[in-house]
Order: sequence, then structure tokens, then C-alpha cells
Amino acid sequence: MMQIDLFDLERTQSQWENTVEFNLTESGLHPYTLRELLTDAQLLELTDLPLGYGHTEGEPALRSAIAARYPGSTPDNVLVTTGSSEANMLVLLSLLDGGDEALIVTPNFMQLPGLAKATGAGVTQIPLRLNDSTWMLDLDEVRRAIGPATRMISVCNPNNPTGGVLSHEERQGLASIAAEHGIALHADEIYRGAELSGGETETLFGATPDTVVTGGTAKAMALAGLRIGWIVGSPELVSLAMQRQDYTTIGSNVLGQRAATFALQPDARSRIFARNRALLSQNIEQLADWIENHHDIFTWVPPKAGAMAFLRYGLPISSDDFSRRLRESQSVFVVAGSWFGLDGHLRLGIGGDPHHFAEALRRMDVFLETEFGLTAA
Ligand SMILES: Cc1ncc(COP(=O)(O)O)c(C=O)c1O
Repeated sequence: MMQIDLFDLERTQSQWENTVEFNLTESGLHPYTLRELLTDAQLLELTDLPLGYGHTEGEPALRSAIAARYPGSTPDNVLVTTGSSEANMLVLLSLLDGGDEALIVTPNFMQLPGLAKATGAGVTQIPLRLNDSTWMLDLDEVRRAIGPATRMISVCNPNNPTGGVLSHEERQGLASIAAEHGIALHADEIYRGAELSGGETETLFGATPDTVVTGGTAKAMALAGLRIGWIVGSPELVSLAMQRQDYTTIGSNVLGQRAATFALQPDARSRIFARNRALLSQNIEQLADWIENHHDIFTWVPPKAGAMAFLRYGLPISSDDFSRRLRESQSVFVVAGSWFGLDGHLRLGIGGDPHHFAEALRRMDVFLETEFGLTAA
């Protein structure tokens, strides 16, 4: 039997996310329905779509709409996948072999280290470090970790779970290290477009000829249920990934592809992003007040992007137990930091309905009072 690490986050989410009253484990924005998003003509078009395999590499219009988001790319740089999970998997299967080494910047969506290890490759984690209230990447540490078997460096930018975004210097530094050693640079950019303020995070696509980016509709576009993701990379990498996709899913679903094509048109995207910002700014304000009221217990670096906040707490309870006991007693479900290898932290989703979020915070207060005798300041 192939050895594969338990993917704690996904397994635990799958177990409880549909049974709790307040699911704060989601890192994306409150999902849209197609009726909310599409015109009547577009909805009708979906109902008339023949449910064949379609274009297994992705509908031409969708590949063009995706390429338009990555300056310097064309549809030939794009492969459409079943969620960005499949995109990440195909990238790893295209770049790694047994005995190779991958450097993965963590914390991260733990699919990457888990799957990389399952290919038989060695994984070295490069930790982001909290420095002056910013999550920083130590480029010297990256440099020192590179060996003769290193094939790739992988980052999640904007980062899950910290909500941090790499600085210009960090991006350039990563690109020049990768170029100097002739290794691939992979960036999971699924949270690009869910910035709380400022412009969209600059893509790493094009940073080096061997840079490959993954993304999808699940988070910033609030359309996880479409199960549409993508790879944007060199035509050579895309071709390798296509050959592997023939063995995984053959191609992604045609309904999701057509709906994603509509959602990626500039007017629909702008509407989605404007709604997202409104939701995020209301929730982040509520959370900032809540943390202020609990400043003796909780500290944080406010996220720059992504619909999540990563909180550090000072209580004598593991994050796993915190998550479980909060869920069992208050039906509020949060992500334990230990599922990212960072105990003493919790990740809270901030992309949901603000009234719902307010009630979840109130229940966390009840939990803190009943479990630890703590009252808000
Ligand atoms: C960084 C990151 N990449 C990929 C995924 C998976 O996304 P998808 O639903 O598109 O497969 C997630 C889901 O949480 C994620 O956080």
C-alpha cells in the first residue's frame, strides 16, 4: 500500500463541516449560486450544454479567460483541472520523482508536502517566520536548503493559513535562486484576488521560464463547487501535466468550465471581488474588535489576503482540543493550527455572512467563559 500522510485539515473538515451550525474552517468566500451570478441567457446556455467530455484540456474560451489573468501567458500555457487540488497534484507528478527533493515554504496547504512525499521525494520545509508583525521568508535559509537533488521550490502566495503576501524582494529572491539552480518554482495562488485592501497580488507566473502557477475558482471567486482549477506554466510543463491528467480525471466537468468562463469575464469578476471586499471588511472589523477584547489571550497579524485569520492564543489547551471542544460545546468549527504544524494557533474563516460570523464570535465568548472562566475585556 502506498504510504501517504493523513491530510488532517481536509479529513477533519469533511467529517464535521456539514453538521456544525457555524463552520469557520472555510478559507474561501461565501459561495455564490449560479442564479446570483449569471444572466438568464447564461443560465439557459448551461441547460443546453451537451454533457460530453468537451475539451479535456479546458474549453478554449476558458483557457483564454484564465490566460488573461496571467500577463505574458497564452492559452497554450493553461491546463484546466478539477479544482486546484488536481492542479497541484499534476504539478508535483510532473516535477518530482523518487529520490528528488522539494523545498516547500510552510505553513502551507498541507496537500503539497503530503503528496510530494508520497511521490517518494524528500521534502524540506522552509518556515515563514514572524518578524516585526510580518510573516517573512528567509531567503538564505532557502539557499542553504538547496542540494543536488532539489527539483522545485513551492510557495502558497497569498499564504494559507497566515494571509500573508510575499514582498517584492522575497518574490525576486525566490526567482533568482530558482533560476540560478535551474529548478522549478511553483506558486499556489488560489487566494489571489481575495485581498482585503490594495491591488491584486502580483502573479509569480513569468518570474522564471520554469515557474508554474496553480489557481482556481474555489476561494477568491467563491465558486468552490464548480471544482475548476488550473495550471499556468510553460507549454512543456503543461504537456507533461496533460499526460498525467489522462490518468487522473481525463478532464474537468463541462458545466463547471462553462460557468467558470462566465465568472471570469471582467464584469462578473469585478462584481464578485467587490462583494468579497465588502464581506471581508465587515468581518475583519468585527474580528479586530473581538481580539482587542481578548488581547491578553489572542494575538494576530491581520491578514493581507484570503478569507481567513490566523490567531495565536495563550491558553493551556492544544489547538486540536480547542477545535474539538469548541465544536462539541458550541457547534463552532475552527481550524487547529496543529493541522498546519503550528500548535497554539487557530485559523478562522472570515469570508461568511457577517451576522453569522458575529454569532460565532459570541459563542466563542461563551466557550472561553465556561471552559476557562474568561470574560471579554
Ligand atoms: C492553498 C490551497 N490550494 C488549493 C486548495 C484546494 O482548492 P480546490 O477546491 O480548488 O481544489 C486549497 C483549499 O483549501 C488551498 O487552501
